[in-house]
Amino acid sequence: MKTVILYGSARKKGHTMSMIRLLQEAAGHEMELIDCYRLKNISPCMDCRHCWKVKECAIHDDMDDIYRKLEEADAIVLAAPVYFHSVPAPMKTVIDRCQVYWAKAVRGDMKEQKKRVGAILLAGGAPAFPEQFTSAEAPLKCLLDDLNAECLDVITISDSDHKALEDWPEAAERIRQLARRL
Ligand SMILES: Cc1cc2nc3c(=O)[nH]c(=O)nc-3n(C[C@H](O)[C@H](O)[C@H](O)COP(=O)(O)O)c2cc1C
Repeated sequence: MKTVILYGSARKKGHTMSMIRLLQEAAGHEMELIDCYRLKNISPCMDCRHCWKVKECAIHDDMDDIYRKLEEADAIVLAAPVYFHSVPAPMKTVIDRCQVYWAKAVRGDMKEQKKRVGAILLAGGAPAFPEQFTSAEAPLKCLLDDLNAECLDVITISDSDHKALEDWPEAAERIRQLARRL
């Protein structure tokens, strides 16, 4: 199974990456990592509506490669920390550029996309509180929907400013279970 991970953390070796490492180790195969913070050439969506007419983006930059990887993927994992209740800005830029997939509703080519699976991994620095992940989860779930990917699980760890993945054995176990399905 071809798995692509869209990675949204500013830090290369933070808790989000620990979750990804465990996922990859448990799956036992390589996964393609798209590191949103380290993209060199990416513009925000300009809402030019070119994609309302044809299934392509009018802007040509690093997204060309990302579109290809997402389209070839059988599984898409979205992994990010919570920043101000949402996803970090560089990841949101990539998500907004996926408007080309949402626009299938306008173009009317809904049935063309292949079926995939997906999952969401989130780390939040604050101690757990109700709705800690709700706003970050929303755009990620929306993206999986637009990519025709059934969301297999949403796995979160709280209090990551004081604790690590090892302190969340239930989350770690769910990551291992997810790996078996990827
Ligand atoms: C700009 C910024 C905003 C943040 N906002 C939140 C927040 O709203 N809720 C929360 O639980 N943690 C918040 N955090 C903490 C991060 O989610 C936490 O440090 C996380 O572990 C960072 O991910 P990483 O370990 O993969 O780098 C914020 C951190 C930064 C840098």
